[in-house]
Amino acid sequence: MNQELPDRKLFGEDFIWGVSTSALQTEGSTLADGKGKSIWDEFAGRKYTIKSKHTPENATEFYKLYKKDIQLLRKMNIKNFRFSISWPRLFPDGFNFNSKGADFYDRLIDELLENEITPWATLYHWDLPLDLEKKGGWTNRNIIYWFEKYTYACLKKYGDRIQHWMIMNEPVAFTGAGYFLGIHAPGRRGLNNFLPAIHHTVMTICNSNQIIKELYPKSERGTTFSTSLITPFSERKSDQSAAKRVDVMLNRMFPEAICGMGYPMDDLPVLRRIEKHIMPGDLSLMNADFDFFGLQNYTREVVAHSWFTPYLKAKMIPANKRNVPTTKMNWEIYPEGIFEVLKKFSSYPFVKKIIITENGASFNDQVIENKVCDYNRRDFIQEYIKQVYYAQKAGIPVKGYFVWSFTDNFEWSEGYTQRFGLVHIDFETQERIIKESGKWY
Ligand code: GAL
Repeated sequence: MNQELPDRKLFGEDFIWGVSTSALQTEGSTLADGKGKSIWDEFAGRKYTIKSKHTPENATEFYKLYKKDIQLLRKMNIKNFRFSISWPRLFPDGFNFNSKGADFYDRLIDELLENEITPWATLYHWDLPLDLEKKGGWTNRNIIYWFEKYTYACLKKYGDRIQHWMIMNEPVAFTGAGYFLGIHAPGRRGLNNFLPAIHHTVMTICNSNQIIKELYPKSERGTTFSTSLITPFSERKSDQSAAKRVDVMLNRMFPEAICGMGYPMDDLPVLRRIEKHIMPGDLSLMNADFDFFGLQNYTREVVAHSWFTPYLKAKMIPANKRNVPTTKMNWEIYPEGIFEVLKKFSSYPFVKKIIITENGASFNDQVIENKVCDYNRRDFIQEYIKQVYYAQKAGIPVKGYFVWSFTDNFEWSEGYTQRFGLVHIDFETQERIIKESGKWY
């Protein structure tokens, strides 16, 4: 691999380079200063949900160690930091404001700014207040108003210092894994949970976007979307149409519905059943005018027809069955895929500019003599960045790139068994080591 290319300078002075994190995966202190439980705190307490029975209780202790971590960012010369705000820290029971919890983000933002690091804030990275889940969570339409209150509180408190807002992180991931497959919190299953969760998420994002725009018209608003290149397993017609259905589900459904194109029902007929959740007036509100499209990409999916999967009639062929290079997550390493998804999304009329808000990889890191020589991660990031450069050269308006993740952290149902960080964390001692990939980045 060519280690020199691409030089950062080639991307231009105003290209944004950064790292991403989220509250639940890093903060720990899950009950400190009046914080309420989130659905993940409860989910982690159930049997057989999280590998090795890990919990987010301590995570990387970012709540306590944020100042130290910001010094690491400085040392690594990282100028943009994406984090998320924890809803249950601000509203422990979903309704009553907890100023002690909210003050944490004041301290964090001020510390970032003092160190000349630009904050990029996500309002929702999957940690719903548990008390709201008890009222139905994303399946309850009132969540639009619960989230409205939360949006107002965040903007009133932090809006003077934050210019870049992402309303939610990967809507298809938390509704799909949390309300359809049951493998993420809150562990609900089936279409009867999934379909209302989809529609209420869409409405919530559009409403929150509108509020931010009214309060801070000059701020930049977006949402981050998971994207994957979908490749049909064969030329067969059945595999081709299976790939198309998966493309609708994984890539198209949320962005199209949120940004004014409606649900792509013709290409995935089961979506017609969402109609009963659409109330009069909804369609005209489903029209978010984001300033940027947050694109997240890790891998590609190879899809074949299958009679056994209800609704989708499709299955993904796991990477280890395809004899391709993979990360520890068993995700195929396929850098060209990011070029393809950049091309795909840039062709939507509602996409003005794209920021890659997550890309990265988990590998089996080893600490040897206080060093982590993760050249596989460095090569991964480098090859993906190269493709971003090709995309930029091809005229695609991609304006920024964030690595997932700043530090190793709590990887949802994988617990601490998957490490994505540029910085290694010893979860016993909370000691940090900048990995070789981090030094390079
Ligand atoms: C994303 C998610 C992150 C992180 C990453 C790696 O889908 O937004 O929180 O976990 O995947 O799996």
